[in-house]
Amino acid sequence: MAIDPQFEENREVVDEHEGHRVWGPVDEPETLGIHGTHVAVDFDICLADGACLEDCPVDVFEWVDTPGHPESERKADPANEANCIDCMLCVDVCPVDAIDVDGSRETRI
Ligand code: F3S
Ligand code: F3S
Ligand code: ZN
Repeated sequence: MAIDPQFEENREVVDEHEGHRVWGPVDEPETLGIHGTHVAVDFDICLADGACLEDCPVDVFEWVDTPGHPESERKADPANEANCIDCMLCVDVCPVDAIDVDGSRETRI
């Protein structure tokens, strides 16, 4: 299952993390929601492949530890989503389609 590109309509902001939004539902540690808005990562789909961290030319992503999550014990957090230049590499390389990028979406909280 890929990230829902309509998550802004289908989910609600339930938290903030490192300056970006967190879209619910969240029920730690098994359910973590979507982090980010312009660059959105579905933490419940990410399985810590790491290709996004390796390939992003402007280092948008940072690892965050998520012990106890059924898919993986760390996630690619869009910590620097404001730096994104919309190259779309991360969307192309993620093997499980956990990332959605939309330049029209606001980064600010
Ligand atoms: Fe990086 Fe993905 Fe943006 S690779 S520049 S976060 S589209
Ligand atoms: Fe996760 Fe996909 Fe990146 S599985 S670590 S979001 S390439
Ligand atoms: Zn985050």
